[in-house]
Parts: sequence; C-alpha cells; structure tokens
Amino acid sequence: MVRLYPQTVRRVDVSLGNRSYAIRIGSGLLARLGRECARLSLGKKCAIITDTMVGPLYAKAAVRSLAKAGFEPVVLMVPAGEKAKSIATVQSCYDRLAAHRLERRSFIVALGGGVVGDLAGFVAATYVRGISFVQVPTTLLAQVDSSVGGKVGVNLKAGKNLVGAFYQPRLVLCDLDTLKTLPMREFRAGMAEVIKYGIICDAGLFSRLEKSMTKLMARETGLLSGVIARCCEIKAEVVSQDETEGGLRAILNFGHTIGHGLEAISQYGKYLHGEAISIGQVAAARLSHRLLNLPLAEVQRVRDLFAAAGLPVELDLSTPKVRALVAAMRLDKKVTEGEIKFVLARRIGAVEFGQRVPTSLLRELLGKRLLPEI
Ligand SMILES: NC(=O)c1ccc[n+]([C@@H]2O[C@H](COP(=O)([O-])OP(=O)(O)OC[C@H]3O[C@@H](n4cnc5c(N)ncnc54)[C@H](O)[C@@H]3O)[C@@H](O)[C@H]2O)c1
Ligand SMILES: [Zn+2]
Repeated sequence: MVRLYPQTVRRVDVSLGNRSYAIRIGSGLLARLGRECARLSLGKKCAIITDTMVGPLYAKAAVRSLAKAGFEPVVLMVPAGEKAKSIATVQSCYDRLAAHRLERRSFIVALGGGVVGDLAGFVAATYVRGISFVQVPTTLLAQVDSSVGGKVGVNLKAGKNLVGAFYQPRLVLCDLDTLKTLPMREFRAGMAEVIKYGIICDAGLFSRLEKSMTKLMARETGLLSGVIARCCEIKAEVVSQDETEGGLRAILNFGHTIGHGLEAISQYGKYLHGEAISIGQVAAARLSHRLLNLPLAEVQRVRDLFAAAGLPVELDLSTPKVRALVAAMRLDKKVTEGEIKFVLARRIGAVEFGQRVPTSLLRELLGKRLLPEI
C-alpha cells in the first residue's frame, strides 16, 4: 500500500530482498536529497549525472543538498536527448569518474529523465563492477516508469537498449516540483504510460484518470502525487514478482510492440515514445476487441482517454507503410523466434500476455482508421 511519509511525501516500497528500496514522491524532495542519501551508508564522493537541459535548472540544488549532508558531489553534464544514451557517453562518464577518483563506496545520482536514468544506471552498474546509484527522475515518464525496476542501458546503432543490465537503484526520489518546467509535449508523453497502468492493472485508476484528466494536465500537485504513487506501486508490484521479465513483467509492454515498430519506421524522429505507445495502445485495444472480446465501449473509453490527454490515437498509413510497420515489429528485441506476442486486454484493468495475433489481422487493423469500423 502507498503510505504517507511524513505528511505530504508518499512512499512506495520495491520489495526485492536485500536489494529492496523506497520510492518517495512529493514536493521539495530535491532539497532532501542529501539527508535521504545519508541514511544509505554510502561513501562521501558522488557524481551527479545530468543533462544540459536539466542541469542548469536543478543541479545546483542537488549539489547544495548533498554538500550540506557532508557529501562531495561532482556534476557530469551530458547532452540532452536520446543520442546521449550511447557507449561513447558511457566511456566519457567512466573517464570523468576515474579522474575524480570515485571508488567502490562512491555513488551516482541520476538527475534527469529516462535517458539520464538509463545511462547513469548503466554507468553505475559497471564502473568498478558496480557502485550504488540513486534516481532523481525529472520527467513524468521517468517518475512512473523508467526510474523504477532496474532496467538500465544504452543504445547501439543497430537498435535501442541493446546493451544493458538489470541493476536496481538504492532510492528513487520523485520531486513533483521538477515537473513544472517539463515541456507540455513531454508531459503528455509521460501520461501515455500513466494511462497504461490503468489499462493493465487498475480499472479504478483508469476511471480516476477519466474524471480528472483536465486537472492532471494542469499538473495539480496533490492529484499528481496520488496518481504517480499508484503507478509506481503497480510497477513495483510487477517488478517484485518478475524482476528480469520471465513472464508477468511483459504486461508493462501493453501497446509497446506496435509503438516500438512505429518509432522504428519513423527513424525515432516523428513520435516521442509516449506518443507512439498511445497509438499502439489504442491499436492493441482494437485487437483485444477482436481476439479477447474487449467490449467496444471500452475500446472507445481507451481511445477517448488518450485523446483527452492530447495524445495521438490514430494511424493513417499507406499499405506499404503498414507492411513496413509489421516488418519492424518482427525486429523488436522482445520477439522470440520470429513470433510476435502481444499483451491484450479482456477488459480495462485486466490483460493477458503472450497472445498470438495473426499477421493478416494486424495488417487489416493497422491499415484502417479507428472509427467506425474498429
Ligand atoms: N529503464 C526503463 O525501464 C525504461 C522505461 C521506459 C523508458 N525508458 C527510456 O527512457 C528514455 C526516455 O525518457 P524521457 O521520456 O524521460 O526522455 P528524456 O530523458 O530525453 O527527457 C525528455 C526531455 O526533457 C528534458 N527534461 C527532463 N526533465 C526536465 C524538467 N524537469 N524540466 C525541463 N526539461 C526536462 C530532457 O533534457 C529532455 O530534453 C528512453 O531512452 C527510453 O528508452 C527506460
Ligand atoms: Zn514505454
């Protein structure tokens, strides 16, 4: 359960034996970073890895808080954007960590969105065979998704996230105040993951989102805090049961097979990840109607909620593009032996993974606009 800690700070626990950790969600947490780290028996030296957008906004506050608690932080700034999630950036981080003499008990603070979190986590997992790291996610997507669960890694030319590890942080601090400076398009993209949690696990959350989407999009801290905590709780629960994606964790990929395919055929340029999986989830809902009898009214609710968050919900692809999309889906690294398996919904709040979808049905649905056919 989500517990209030203290007063307005919520706490969600990720239970993974001796690698368990807490996620704290609230306002003003960046100022408490040092105090929170001080509870973890870490060495004095630490590196804050951040990017050129987030660093100028929040690195000073992070440094101040850590220094006040007796730590000796250095700031490593990487370029903002997906390109920084590369082996080349990892290499330059290693060099700078070594130059600052970080050792086994030193730690890394990942201050930024999912790019910084994945990169810094991978650096932490491998530098001197692994040092502690703390996640301070500053995008909605990172707060509800990428900072929790321990998947870290970088991209190769051949594809996204092809090099990586499972490596859990020691602590996750979600400071809701940092979301205030997030560009609207990025905020919307994060909302696509929030809605996903409702579809895969929690019909109550889905209804809550339907009722309060306007206020959430206005970033009302009180509302956001409860919603983010619930998402973290669902992710924590799934990850605790299946840390390395042997089965259940696959449900987190609802809408992602199609979404990843879309990102790939548009050369990772046209859509943000959240936008691609918004379209992907609506398409997955339509497939669910055909294959698992998800009621039509629920397909419509799914579509309407993404639309209410200002996210794209429809594809308008020519026949050759549809073929390219299906071909790209086959290349997704989660495809085993050429067979594309889907996560599909029986109803909002209940999904099943490992579902086969005939290629002909995929082509048919992806080639059609949503309404009125479904
Ligand atoms: N590890 C996982 O389980 C997991 C899960 C989902 C996604 N991911 C990864 O996460 C990455 C995407 O993360 P993202 O969407 O957070 O993108 P991102 O880290 O690129 O951040 C988006 C943009 O917003 C800027 N930004 C971040 N926080 C800000 C703030 N508070 N104010 C103003 N600007 C801010 C960033 O500099 C960047 O330009 C992808 O690489 C994806 O593969 C990982
Ligand atoms: Zn995603």
